Amino acid sequence: MKLKRVLKWSVITMFFALVLSILVGFIAYFRSTNECDVRSAPPTHPMRAIRFCEYGSTDVLKFEDVEKPVPNDDQVLIRVRAASLNFVDPGLMRGPWPLRLMTGLRKPERTRLGTDVAGQVEAVGKNVTLFKAGDEVFGVTRSSIAEYACARERALVIRPANVTFEQAGSVAWAGFTALQGLRKGKIQPGQKVLINGATGGVGTFAVQIAKSFGAEVTGVCSTGKVELVRSIGADHVIDYTKEDFTKGDQRYDVIFDNVNNHSFSDRRRVLTPNGICVLAGIGGAGLHPGMLGRVVGILRADLLSRFVRQKFVRYGTKTDKEDLKLLSDLMQTGKVTPVIDRTYKLSETAEAMRYFEEGHARGKVVITVEQGEQGSLGL
Ligand SMILES: NC(=O)c1ccc[n+]([C@@H]2O[C@H](COP(=O)([O-])OP(=O)(O)OC[C@H]3O[C@@H](n4cnc5c(N)ncnc54)[C@H](OP(=O)(O)O)[C@@H]3O)[C@@H](O)[C@H]2O)c1
Repeated sequence: MKLKRVLKWSVITMFFALVLSILVGFIAYFRSTNECDVRSAPPTHPMRAIRFCEYGSTDVLKFEDVEKPVPNDDQVLIRVRAASLNFVDPGLMRGPWPLRLMTGLRKPERTRLGTDVAGQVEAVGKNVTLFKAGDEVFGVTRSSIAEYACARERALVIRPANVTFEQAGSVAWAGFTALQGLRKGKIQPGQKVLINGATGGVGTFAVQIAKSFGAEVTGVCSTGKVELVRSIGADHVIDYTKEDFTKGDQRYDVIFDNVNNHSFSDRRRVLTPNGICVLAGIGGAGLHPGMLGRVVGILRADLLSRFVRQKFVRYGTKTDKEDLKLLSDLMQTGKVTPVIDRTYKLSETAEAMRYFEEGHARGKVVITVEQGEQGSLGL
């Protein structure tokens, strides 16, 4: 009798919890809005930028006038000369459902693209001490795919003279991902390091940074990119269309895995007894089949590796001024040269995104910014 009552009340409670969460979900969905709904008047101080008011394909990317940003006391206003596309950008634009819990349920809360930036300082906030108007800088900031962007002082460094704006604008996020991932793998000089997915934005930095640490580097890529991977310094190249690196005899101290398309046990087999596999990514940019399986594979590998000697480690890329300085030094000394696949004008960002979303870029896809650029989209 008592059990029956408990069961009855459990079912009732669950039913109400379900109804309540559906209701909350609906309210959150319909309350989800963004600045496009709020601001209808033309901007007072306009600048050109790429903006998307809805989630969707590249058609949602509009080249239009928006309000020029004003730096706060701790920020620098940058006249943007170059920025680049990163793995996160197609996701922000398309808004796959799990991501929408963070980016806005019905409409994107963040309506602008861009993470990396290179350009000239135009103005500084009153607490900024490291930069002045006219300095040429590069680093990290949001919404950089525009004529102007504001960035925190600690997310910028001076652009080395031997590095072009296009190169500098392609570095930060992919460079951080490669550098911080290799550190997670506790990379040491003389170690054998394999980079799976050696040719994209992150992979081309990972190969060069691993070489700069004195590692013996093997890059994994498709047939047409073997020469590219050699040209950026890899000691060995494996064409994944012909050979599976997990089936070979070579053992690696570090696997920097940008793709995660092999099983836990296959990768363990080619790791040294104390080897580390860095779970860096899930393959090329854009939505592609197998993505979900790779995400599950990453979580599984992370869990299973707690019970074995070899380690499979996850990490999230972070903005770090010291890392930015190191990347700058590596470029200044010629140890790292950003690989730029294609450059597009600001007004051509939708086209750039279409190409990037194919997931097979040779290095970075860069957006260059000219003042007062005229374009056909959204005007
Ligand atoms: N951990 C973090 O915080 C973080 C931050 C940013 C990015 N990421 C990750 O980094 C990864 C790479 O980003 P990205 O910007 O470099 O993308 P990308 O420029 O599109 O490059 C993707 C790379 O994946 C390779 N690839 C695709 N299928 C492959 C396969 N079957 N075998 C081997 N390589 C394959 C491509 O090479 P081919 O063209 O030769 O196939 C290319 O080198 C993403 O998966 C992302 O998740 C992680």
